[in-house]
Amino acid sequence: MFRHSIRALLVALSTLTAASQAATAMALAVPAEPHTVAPAAQSPRQQTVSDLTTTMKGEAFAHASYGLFGTQADREAHPAVGKLFRATAQTELNEHLKQAAALAGTVGTNEANLRQAINGETYEHQVMYRGFADQARMDGDDEAAKLFTEIAADEGRHRDAYRMALTAVTTGRGSVPAPPKADMVPVPAGMPKVKAARTMANLDTAMHGEALAHAKYMLFAERARQTGNQALARLFEGTAGVELHEHFAGEAALAGHVRMTKDNLRTAIAGEHNEATNQYPGFAKRATAVGDTAAARYFRDTAAAAAKHAAAFQQALDQLH
Ligand SMILES: [Fe+2]
Ligand SMILES: [Fe+2]
Ligand SMILES: [Fe+2]
Ligand SMILES: [Fe+2]
Repeated sequence: MFRHSIRALLVALSTLTAASQAATAMALAVPAEPHTVAPAAQSPRQQTVSDLTTTMKGEAFAHASYGLFGTQADREAHPAVGKLFRATAQTELNEHLKQAAALAGTVGTNEANLRQAINGETYEHQVMYRGFADQARMDGDDEAAKLFTEIAADEGRHRDAYRMALTAVTTGRGSVPAPPKADMVPVPAGMPKVKAARTMANLDTAMHGEALAHAKYMLFAERARQTGNQALARLFEGTAGVELHEHFAGEAALAGHVRMTKDNLRTAIAGEHNEATNQYPGFAKRATAVGDTAAARYFRDTAAAAAKHAAAFQQALDQLH
């Protein structure tokens, strides 16, 4: 642990030294050879970071949804469509979301990742799910109220486990807790099981939050594994599994998120089409305008990938007719 903090200090010092050397070099080099000095890595502007966050939410939601749509396609004996949904789901997570996270600087040290996770869990436990449960109860959506209350309790346990892990990581006291096990909730095709429009809207918000939590924890797990902290990697992965297979799935079942495969394909096509023609080109334009060239390139590439996804889903739909 002590060795760790020394190393962190050395890294911080060398960064500082490098930065001041670069500044000096820059001052000395102008106007002689400005191109020999590499420009400092630019962090994206606030609007770009906000667009990247929106992107991550959408990609995480697509990842989670396509997983369920794939299972439904298998139920209907359309294995090729199931395979297409699962392969696309992986692209959304491992390419699109991951690249957006890299540009936005979402993944930090194990300590920073744990703090981010604790903040998210605390908000969901104390504020979000309690508010959603009250609303659902008020509107007579008792099943949703029950689910929101159960999930609120889970998030409290996630927060506590992450707090213990943070203590272990920062002080070396105690140990990283064992990961929670997910109860897989099946989500067969069906209509919404709630009455109020407000409950539906809150289910949608909750599903986006769960999908994003799942995706982030998978990235945090990867980071923990790279640093050699296997126990922390397992905690993040186990918790990610609960967010997806239990929380997202439970909410999706109530929201009637999964329909018959033809309708799921139509939903997917509409989402990909919107990304390809509207959302990502708009984000690219904004990023270009403020000089966030790496982000602009990412948005353009991801728009093109979304157009390909839409075309592949359309082809699958045509073959089912
Ligand atoms: Fe995508
Ligand atoms: Fe959680
Ligand atoms: Fe959750
Ligand atoms: Fe896509």
